[in-house]
Amino acid sequence: NKILLAYSGGLDTSVAIKWLQDKYDAEIITYTADLGQQQDWKAVEQKALATGASKAYIDDIRAEFINEYVFPALKVNALYQEKYPLATALARPLIAKRMVEIAKKEGVDALAHGCTGKGNDQVRFEVSFKALAPELAIIAPLRDWEFVSRDAEIEYAAANDIPVKATKDSPYSIDQNLWGISIECGILEDPWAEPPADAYQWTKAVDETPAAAKYITIDFEKGVPVALDGKQLDSVTMVNKLNQFGSDYGVGRIDMLEDRLVGIKSREIYEAPAAEILIKAHKALEDLTLDRETKNYKAAMAAKYAEMTYYGLWFSPLRNALDAFIDQSQQTVTGSIKVKLYKGSCTLAGRKSAHSLYNHGLATYDESDNFDHKSAPGFINLWALPVQVANQQQREE
Ligand code: ARG
Ligand code: SIN
Repeated sequence: NKILLAYSGGLDTSVAIKWLQDKYDAEIITYTADLGQQQDWKAVEQKALATGASKAYIDDIRAEFINEYVFPALKVNALYQEKYPLATALARPLIAKRMVEIAKKEGVDALAHGCTGKGNDQVRFEVSFKALAPELAIIAPLRDWEFVSRDAEIEYAAANDIPVKATKDSPYSIDQNLWGISIECGILEDPWAEPPADAYQWTKAVDETPAAAKYITIDFEKGVPVALDGKQLDSVTMVNKLNQFGSDYGVGRIDMLEDRLVGIKSREIYEAPAAEILIKAHKALEDLTLDRETKNYKAAMAAKYAEMTYYGLWFSPLRNALDAFIDQSQQTVTGSIKVKLYKGSCTLAGRKSAHSLYNHGLATYDESDNFDHKSAPGFINLWALPVQVANQQQREE
């Protein structure tokens, strides 16, 4: 009897190792994804083993995460409910996919995770597990076990020699990766309460940001950022650097009251500096290089794509089909965007592209104007025709 457990190193999943072992009389292997969190991975591995795991995987999936999950979502400009860049939601299907691969290699019978029954993450994990390996059983200890409080868990941990951090735990529940950090719980559960300064983990408060603005230039190729200030960067370094710059200038804070898939409204704080900068820059490049109809059609689709991701439907035929459409739309989204970081905001400062559809001769109001003004009346006659007829009819009724 073997179980592969998604392991963060925190209290819940550490208690889960022992609990699963006892309840299922099973060998426990842990899986931990390195998605760019600043953590001592050796310590996480050691803690899993010390708590009773027979083997502890630490899996560096940063590049795959950015290239195959984050950048496709960036091409869409995907924001759930127009605000949340989906850091947590994008990571879950990849973690699930890697767990399935390891489960097959290790001959595991069941997959386990540390999500609660009230959240989105349980759905994302389990839909992905079912999509990729329906034959594996799924166990969610936090939905099943009898601990009524954190104190009860800590007592269990102490009784079972599970190492619990001596330091006082953060009052918040935090999930982070390269695309952003999600912060919940504590005082944040009061939607009237302004987030206290200590809720923010990455970004500087505006009063602590530099007095002068910082300009940065991002080059995109087919919708994907490839260079920063003229220097080619791999995707992970690119996102890391933009998180750093954005954090220094207080960019990327999001205070949101969102709708979970399970029907609960939830107050969430996010910090996503790189996501804010890149989505703004990418949209600006699309303004310049996409024809009007493609751009508008794509914008309408973005909400659907974000919802599918949020709702755990990453491995679905529709998401695949949407990606094919999106990739086709990005063929000309190549060029440079200049943005200005200043006192908590990221604003557009310039755009250029060899594929620009901006035609100065058509747009200008000066003497170089080469637009044929005489073609406008005929166009308007036909454009107005159905509206004119309908209004005429109404007046006569
Ligand atoms: N509400 C966000 C989402 O559904 C953040 C979830 C954070 N998850 C966590 N395990 N702390 O994507
Ligand atoms: C959880 O309930 O496990 C975290 C929050 C969420 O999944 O939305």
